[in-house]
Amino acid sequence: MYAIHIEDDHTLSWRKGAKIAEPGEFEVRINVAWAGMNRADSLQRQGNYPPPPGASETPGLEVSGTIAAIGSGVTRVKIGDRVCALLTGGGYAEQVITHELQVLPLPEAFTLKDAAALPEVFATAWLNLFMEAGLQQGERVVLHAGASSVGTTAIQLCKAFGNPVFVTAGSDDKIERCRALGADDGFNRHNGSFVDAVNAWGGADVILDPVGGDYLPQNQKVLKTDGRLVMIGVMGGMEETLNLGTMLMKRQRIIGSALRSRSPEQKGNIMRELHEQVWPLLGSGKIAPVIDGSWPVEQANEAMDYMEGNSGMGKLLLEIADT
Ligand SMILES: NC(=O)c1ccc[n+]([C@@H]2O[C@H](COP(=O)([O-])OP(=O)(O)OC[C@H]3O[C@@H](n4cnc5c(N)ncnc54)[C@H](OP(=O)(O)O)[C@@H]3O)[C@@H](O)[C@H]2O)c1
Repeated sequence: MYAIHIEDDHTLSWRKGAKIAEPGEFEVRINVAWAGMNRADSLQRQGNYPPPPGASETPGLEVSGTIAAIGSGVTRVKIGDRVCALLTGGGYAEQVITHELQVLPLPEAFTLKDAAALPEVFATAWLNLFMEAGLQQGERVVLHAGASSVGTTAIQLCKAFGNPVFVTAGSDDKIERCRALGADDGFNRHNGSFVDAVNAWGGADVILDPVGGDYLPQNQKVLKTDGRLVMIGVMGGMEETLNLGTMLMKRQRIIGSALRSRSPEQKGNIMRELHEQVWPLLGSGKIAPVIDGSWPVEQANEAMDYMEGNSGMGKLLLEIADT
């Protein structure tokens, strides 16, 4: 089948490779229509994020498409169903195999294109805000990279579940667009430290941080007593000094979280909660994925360059098959 291959010079090429295997007992094979792009794919193409053991070497953490084959133990979907899926890899391809627990039906009235924008960012935002941080109604949330795909999803979830939100982002225009999605306030990260602005707003019970680096000491200064800082990325650096005194006195909790390496059962739990709590909000149009652009899969290099340029806001998609 055709799939994206990461070449030795770190470019992406859409070319024919090995035939895909048959699905195992609890697995399904999906004919991929659209694939969502993620920062992890960019790190993988640079050689900095190898797939977990046993996962496909092909990048791609989420797709939408049609079920083409099912294993003998599969009960949740049938051949022909239109689905979206959270993957451990392999999504930039004509076909992909995944565990049935990682697959959901499309929300009501969703197209395959829009559905490809859902699995990774909704699973990340839901997992880290509600399952890891245990976010309670009314608690105040700071979202770093608020205009990112994860950020724009998290803003809408916070708004829908009754949580005030403050964002940091890279331009005043992006902050305005975050406000339009439901953010209460924001700070342009190119204007220095966010500490005074967040504390003037009221501080944070929960911080979702994909940046790290020198955000760590600043986060500790805005995180309230019993606050939770969930680290989901290191776009700003991997090492900094943690003030253990502040951590102890304010009973701050720091949680590291990665989605990709979780088991099918763990991913399935997140998908089940999304289906119950969030799919109805998507189906009714109360919330929606923010999609910035799409490219034919043959132009994956151009799409990846655009993502790495940081100028966009929202999901980027690759069209794999004509729908
Ligand atoms: N742990 C997990 O399981 C998990 C899962 C999914 C995603 N993530 C992480 O979450 C982050 C967001 O992913 P995404 O797909 O939503 O990304 P995205 O849509 O591509 O947006 C990323 C945005 O981050 C901001 N940014 C880039 N470099 C930065 C830096 N050094 N400091 C501060 N902000 C920076 C830029 O926006 P501005 O210029 O506007 O600030 C950029 O547009 C990534 O780090 C990704 O690896 C983690």
